[in-house]
Amino acid sequence: MDKFRIEGGKRLEGEVRVSGAKNAALPAMSASLLTADEVKLANVPHVRDIVTMAKLLAHMNAQVQVSPFAPNDVGLHAADEVRPEAPYDLVKTMRAGVLVLGPLLARCGYARVSLPGGCAIGARPVDLHIKALRRLGAEISVEHGYIEARLRRRRRLRGAPVKFEKITVTGTENVMMAAALAEGDTEIFNAAREPEVTDLANLLNAMGATVMGAGTSAIHIHGVEKLHGATHRIIPDRIEAGTLLCAGAITGGELLLTHAEPNHVTALADKLQECGVEVRDEGAGRLRVKAPGASGQQLVAADMTTEEFPGFPTDMQAQFMAVMTQAAGTSVISETIFENRFLHAQEMVRMGAEIEVSGRKAVVTGPAKLTGANVQASDLRASAGLVLAALVAQGETVIDRVYHLDRGYEHLEEKLQAVGAKIERVK
Ligand code: UD1
Repeated sequence: MDKFRIEGGKRLEGEVRVSGAKNAALPAMSASLLTADEVKLANVPHVRDIVTMAKLLAHMNAQVQVSPFAPNDVGLHAADEVRPEAPYDLVKTMRAGVLVLGPLLARCGYARVSLPGGCAIGARPVDLHIKALRRLGAEISVEHGYIEARLRRRRRLRGAPVKFEKITVTGTENVMMAAALAEGDTEIFNAAREPEVTDLANLLNAMGATVMGAGTSAIHIHGVEKLHGATHRIIPDRIEAGTLLCAGAITGGELLLTHAEPNHVTALADKLQECGVEVRDEGAGRLRVKAPGASGQQLVAADMTTEEFPGFPTDMQAQFMAVMTQAAGTSVISETIFENRFLHAQEMVRMGAEIEVSGRKAVVTGPAKLTGANVQASDLRASAGLVLAALVAQGETVIDRVYHLDRGYEHLEEKLQAVGAKIERVK
């Protein structure tokens, strides 16, 4: 298992390129199951979840081709007999595997998809996906750890109003994809407004679907009989961008992010500004972050509550917590999306942070002097939080289980090295 060895205390400075969004690429890849033509995607990040999704699609008889000239260009072609099955081995490591359920059902009238495995940050059920697809006419049973969905006595799903009792990102995406090939119209109420949902809607529309209202909480889909191939560029990764903004802020540095989408990181940028960090949209996808350290000022603490988009993303909570360990004052961090997403706090405490967790709240008091330690990553974003803490800790930190980080960050250590961090991967 790979580890990261990080020597803290280096100020980061320079230019970093933001990769494509994993969470937009995953549904886009699934959407390729909706057509017998080829779907060409650009700006797909080369991370482990994407490799897992590629394996999943290959298991279903789709052809997955990575361009030899541009490794972030991926061609997906589910031309022949699609095998509508997603096995446990592939879905267990990646909850987003459930994204193939809607497309398989719509294309094949049948799907057998493993329930996602347990997850460190909470129970993460898929009941809302199942309920919604039932509304579109699917018969679904859950047996032996598999979701088995089928259409009886009809060829296509039928459009219907679907109201989510709780906002779910992949749930919204699953229904959008299924409804694109359904008979009639579907209206999704209380839909997720995340940019990744909008990106998927844009791809579906390029494939010949009629999806309206993505980015708002009411999405209207007019089902069509057939979809065709398309070429689509994946949006920039707002969580990677956010992580890099925090890296600049926590190290007292100055970074220029390129290929970013500033409109997608507003909640975090506003929060960082509240803490004394300068975040500036320089146009053309460039975003500059300047920590207060330069002019002798200090980071100041601010409270934060995670929310669905456009609120502060839960996927940035661990990284923000790392920044708050270095801010003067007390920060109350409230996690409203997942029930058990503070596993990184204990590891940060082992590095010297002052954090008290009680239920869904964490109280961080800073600034604390962090010192290097051996710590363990528990999930994808927690790992990023630990990397940030290690960047300011005195001495050496060794982060174990970075395979969590590899699920979602493309070449993070190389990107950080290039702007002055002392970080290396130990095989
Ligand atoms: C997506 C993101 C993930 C992010 C999360 C919240 C992808 C691939 N992943 O995950 O990075 O952290 O959104 O922004 O896009 N829930 C249910 N029943 C369901 C579905 C969800 O109770 O059927 C609950 C979840 O347990 C959670 C909340 O709803 O408490 C939101 O989860 P959801 O938006 O579905 O997260 P994902 O789509 O899995």
